[in-house]
Amino acid sequence: MNFSKIAIIGGGNLGSSIAKGILSLDELSKESLVICEKRKHRIKYLEDTGFRVIDNAIEMAVKDAEIVIVSVKPQQFTSVLEELKPNLKPDQILVSTVTGVSLSEISDVIGTHPTVRIMPNTAIEIKESMTCICFNNTSEEQEEKTINLFEQLGKTILLQEDLLDAVTVLGACGIAFALRFVRAATQGGIEIGFSAEVSEFIVSQTVKGAAQLLHENHSHPEAEIDKVTTPQGITISGLNEMEHQGFSSSVIKGLITSYNKLVYMERNNKQ
Ligand SMILES: NC(=O)c1ccc[n+]([C@@H]2O[C@H](COP(=O)([O-])OP(=O)(O)OC[C@H]3O[C@@H](n4cnc5c(N)ncnc54)[C@H](OP(=O)(O)O)[C@@H]3O)[C@@H](O)[C@H]2O)c1
Repeated sequence: MNFSKIAIIGGGNLGSSIAKGILSLDELSKESLVICEKRKHRIKYLEDTGFRVIDNAIEMAVKDAEIVIVSVKPQQFTSVLEELKPNLKPDQILVSTVTGVSLSEISDVIGTHPTVRIMPNTAIEIKESMTCICFNNTSEEQEEKTINLFEQLGKTILLQEDLLDAVTVLGACGIAFALRFVRAATQGGIEIGFSAEVSEFIVSQTVKGAAQLLHENHSHPEAEIDKVTTPQGITISGLNEMEHQGFSSSVIKGLITSYNKLVYMERNNKQ
């Protein structure tokens, strides 16, 4: 039940990650996907990577597409929507990855149209995204097809739109937060005896395994932690020292700082 033709407007960091994920789906051929991009060096990169790219011509890119995924910066979005408006057919699904632009703001520009806001992360390129989705003016069939596409590219949850800012921080910025932990642990690993390469390999596989334990056991993180913290043991000593240094507190404060900044920026952009 895949889309026969997909257009992506904006082949930047996220747009190209989505494209890589889509291209790796078995049922979709290279010809099913087109990316519209305007930066010359990005176009070359995308073409070298094997994508069909249309240079800055939205009208051509969306022709025949069943679903149009827009992945441009928030400040570029209105002009892209203005350009899309006369070219969108009533049954084409418009998907926005754009942070901070609401479904009602999108409707203000393009009118009533099947529209979806998604918040994926860059792990979509390896089909491991956490993609949060909300729909507007979509039919049941369009919703099923859209969820099916993003389910093949990782995990999905349907959310109320007022949680999309929070999920931007937790899920999309979350990739950077998780990777900073990986980097810090890698640095520690070097100090206790490993090469950078081996240390990173050990840490990244350990983090992947830890996340997988939660998914597969449906367990609480503390339950898994209890299994590896013996009384007077080495793990609890290290863990408690991390907490004395403010580990959990700094993660929570970092998340809230990102969230407050996003809300502040949205408010200011709308004034
Ligand atoms: N990166 C993430 O992890 C992530 C995660 C979730 C959501 N998002 C959201 O997704 C959106 C895209 O993020 P990004 O990091 O991929 O941004 P990005 O790297 O700047 O990519 C956007 C690309 O679209 C191009 N573009 C702009 N207008 C265009 C047009 N009319 N036709 C064709 N191409 C056009 C831009 O070119 P120019 O730079 O030359 O204008 C740029 O190459 C943002 O709204 C972001 O908030 C990002």
